[in-house]
Amino acid sequence: MSEKAHLTIGDKTYDLDVTIGTENEKCVDIQKLRKESGYITMDPGYGNTGSCYSSITYVDGDKGILRYRGYPIEEIAEKATFVEVAYLILYGELPNVKQLRAFRESISEHAALHTNLEHHFSGFPKTSPPMAILSAMLNLISCFHPEVLEVHSEGPEFDRTVALLLSKVRTISAFSYRMAAGKPFNHPNPNLSYCSNFLHMMFSDPYREYVASPVIVKALNLFLVLHADHEQNCSTSTVRVVGSSRANLFSSVAAGVCALWGPLHGGANAAVIKMLEDIKTSGRPLSQYLDMAKDKENDYKLMGFGHRVYKNFDPRSLIMKKQVYKVLEELHQDDPLLEVALELEEETLKDSYFVERNLYPNVDFYSGILLRAIGIPLNMYTVLFAIGRMPGWISNWRELLEHKQRLSRPRQIYTGEATRNFVPLAAR
Ligand code: ACO
Repeated sequence: MSEKAHLTIGDKTYDLDVTIGTENEKCVDIQKLRKESGYITMDPGYGNTGSCYSSITYVDGDKGILRYRGYPIEEIAEKATFVEVAYLILYGELPNVKQLRAFRESISEHAALHTNLEHHFSGFPKTSPPMAILSAMLNLISCFHPEVLEVHSEGPEFDRTVALLLSKVRTISAFSYRMAAGKPFNHPNPNLSYCSNFLHMMFSDPYREYVASPVIVKALNLFLVLHADHEQNCSTSTVRVVGSSRANLFSSVAAGVCALWGPLHGGANAAVIKMLEDIKTSGRPLSQYLDMAKDKENDYKLMGFGHRVYKNFDPRSLIMKKQVYKVLEELHQDDPLLEVALELEEETLKDSYFVERNLYPNVDFYSGILLRAIGIPLNMYTVLFAIGRMPGWISNWRELLEHKQRLSRPRQIYTGEATRNFVPLAAR
């Protein structure tokens, strides 16, 4: 007999189903509770609410475990390229040689943008935030490829849509940077790998072809791999909520980009660098920044610290930190912000406020230093996160269709005025 939970409210007890995941995560299923009892559950921010069953990514926040389709992030980050990881996340298995070749070719085939889509870039002011451009352009793709409006979660149409999206997100991102810099677009080169092609589209000039060093390509691959999925985070949940209305994949991921943009989520990678630069140039002692972050009257937070799920350490942050050292060494670079970051981390480890609240560096704390080392401009950091997260968003969108997930529609407890009579304008 399956396990049950019992909830007693007043003199009535309700039996609730208990379900257990592959890794022994337990949940009490309250789907029928309202119908049977009239009660809903309350969990603002969904900190303790499961919204789906998923077989894509596993996170254990207490032990600092992250696995994509069962593979530990430490191993995947060391041994796989972003394209292999994207395939794994999307199709559930690592690709064999033939599958990988076909996947790469398909991605290359879809890299160019429709000429009229390209013309849209000239309508944006040069100061446009690249995340706004990315979200708008992803949504616009469906105007030029109306076939993607058909909702498919498998078969050749789905495979084609996946390749198209993974490829065009990279081109759009690079073009947004070129547009803002007032530089001509570099069209994709099918002979280059995913990361080399992105770097070529970003940095080649008519007078000088950019050839990325293997160190830089490896570092970018690692950055994208570490961001490829992270179960039901804010942007992925957004993609699922939008997709649950059976909105097409492009609109759903465009919404995901908007959610990612915020500084509490993906926008933190750029916010960390701004914070470190401020610490470095202001001359104020670190203790002042810590005090500001601890002050409950102040909204100031130490960016890159804390996580909803990880309460011991973020495994991605450890890998990122190691990679930062390696890349700086291999590129013979020194970054004064790394010193500031290390000092800040050390201070927080000695401070009871941060220790008691389990606030440790998250993936965004060191990732900006890595991106700086490989020459990515600050306003593109969160765009890079979006490119990396695309396989996760697509895969979650697909899974919700496969599971025929119901329309997402949370409840609320109303706390406004009770019924009252309309007051005519003259009497107000
Ligand atoms: N600096 C100072 N205090 C913090 C920080 C921080 N960075 N993060 C959390 N706290 C405090 C909270 O104020 C709260 O204190 P209290 O218990 O005295 O009220 C306590 O720690 C618990 O934090 P919550 O706000 O409950 O944590 P939540 O899970 O809601 O938020 C979040 C997580 C948004 C990541 C938060 O830690 C934060 O704002 N961090 C800074 C932004 C950041 O780095 N975001 C990237 C996250 S990773 C990602 O999205 C890819």
